[in-house]
Amino acid sequence: MFEPSDFIKRAVEDIRERVGDGKAIIALSGGVDSSVASVLASKAIGDRLVAVFVDHGLLREGEVDYVKETFSSRLNLRFIDASERFLEELRGVTDPEEKRRIIGRVFIEVFEEVAEEIGAEYLVQGTIAPDWIESEGKIKSHHNVTLPHGLVLKIVEPLRELYKDEVRILARELGLPDKIIKRQPFPGPGLAVRIIGEITPEKIRICRKANAIVEEEVIGAGLDERLWQYFAVLTDTMATGVKGDMRDFGYLVVLRMVESIDAMTARVPELPWDLIRRISKRITSEIPEVTHVALSVSDKPPSTIEFA
Ligand code: XMP
Repeated sequence: MFEPSDFIKRAVEDIRERVGDGKAIIALSGGVDSSVASVLASKAIGDRLVAVFVDHGLLREGEVDYVKETFSSRLNLRFIDASERFLEELRGVTDPEEKRRIIGRVFIEVFEEVAEEIGAEYLVQGTIAPDWIESEGKIKSHHNVTLPHGLVLKIVEPLRELYKDEVRILARELGLPDKIIKRQPFPGPGLAVRIIGEITPEKIRICRKANAIVEEEVIGAGLDERLWQYFAVLTDTMATGVKGDMRDFGYLVVLRMVESIDAMTARVPELPWDLIRRISKRITSEIPEVTHVALSVSDKPPSTIEFA
């Protein structure tokens, strides 16, 4: 039986022993794993942990304010708005894997700059068991990571042996808000994998708004806990629409709502039709650039959950 209070006590002692009076850094994403790891490490070493939250300009609506509100009283939070830098690097890029590589690289650059500036020796990560079981097949703790410019950080992974449900129990025990505990997974590269083709400020704005509408309606309908993920994709397909008595040419948005246990496979369930219609109506009326909304009905496999 998993005992959260015992786990927290041991984890805090372990981190304290490991880091001593050194400094540590963590990349806080706002997801449950990095949030719990940050709070545990901060309990252990206080302000000698710097939690870095990088805004790459591809976050969900309200995410920046939400993370600031939730964590500024709990953590030594360092907020970095790198959105222009990311967008500049992504200009003209259409290939999804290339987008991922660029975002990963710029993220490490930004993170490394902060680590160097504060003189961090340790990197705390919210890695959980499924993250390494699949990729390594064996336990390999206490390793180091060398960042591109040669900075060596010693890795601390307090959640290494845990599964998601246990991390959620810890989050509750640590007093983190329900919104963090229950929220749907959001990919690291953010809206970049939900915008087909070149990423522009206009497309980010449209995609962000469409995603916010889907989230609001799904949560409002009480379906959020049943679905693994629910989101909107901004395609690069243009479709004709009619506004008033004028013909219009705008974007096609695709709704994707899936059930899954672990994202390895996923299934599109039967969804309440009034919900789909409401989302579609809201998207086309609240986002004038969108003329058409479609619903994806493909399972994984053969499709992936994200579109890009
Ligand atoms: P796919 O699309 O491969 O997604 O079926 C499986 C799960 O992984 C998420 N995903 C990502 N997460 N970086 C991430 O951190 C990525 O590049 C990425 N691509 C997909 C996706 O949201 C789903 O939960």
